[in-house]
Amino acid sequence: MDIFKDIRSQPTWDLAIRTAVAGVKAMKPYYDWVGVYMLEGDMLTLRDEHYSGLPTEHTRIPLDSGICGAGAAEKETLVIDDVSADPRYIACSLTVKSEIVVPIMVADRVIGVLDLDSDTPAAFTADDRRELEQVAAALAQVWERAGNEKP
Ligand code: SME
Repeated sequence: MDIFKDIRSQPTWDLAIRTAVAGVKAMKPYYDWVGVYMLEGDMLTLRDEHYSGLPTEHTRIPLDSGICGAGAAEKETLVIDDVSADPRYIACSLTVKSEIVVPIMVADRVIGVLDLDSDTPAAFTADDRRELEQVAAALAQVWERAGNEKP
């Protein structure tokens, strides 16, 4: 299965996100939680259908909070090998040990973040990062094509 092609061939932004979340979740056994937060105003917002894993209370995260907020604000992928050592970390589940946040960028604007948690310490490799950045780029292409349709 080519997840990038799958994402790009979805007719709507909503379906592209669902396809990305399901496809990424299935990639690796240590991807325990996968979600896409969309930036609405200055708030990262998570819809019910846009994550796979345990439910989280943190469905709205301001840009100045959490690893998600930091990744969006800095427009940089953040790989956190030990979440307990990062003061920015907002805990969604006590079992999580490591996290990666990949901003979804259209030109130089952040439209959301792809967020993954793992129960394995230092789970996310350089290959994972590259692949997840390609997923974010495929999502950005759909967003551009969809004419910035609101999710
Ligand atoms: N850990 C994130 C919050 C979102 S949960 O992982 C689903 C953060 O620190 O921003």
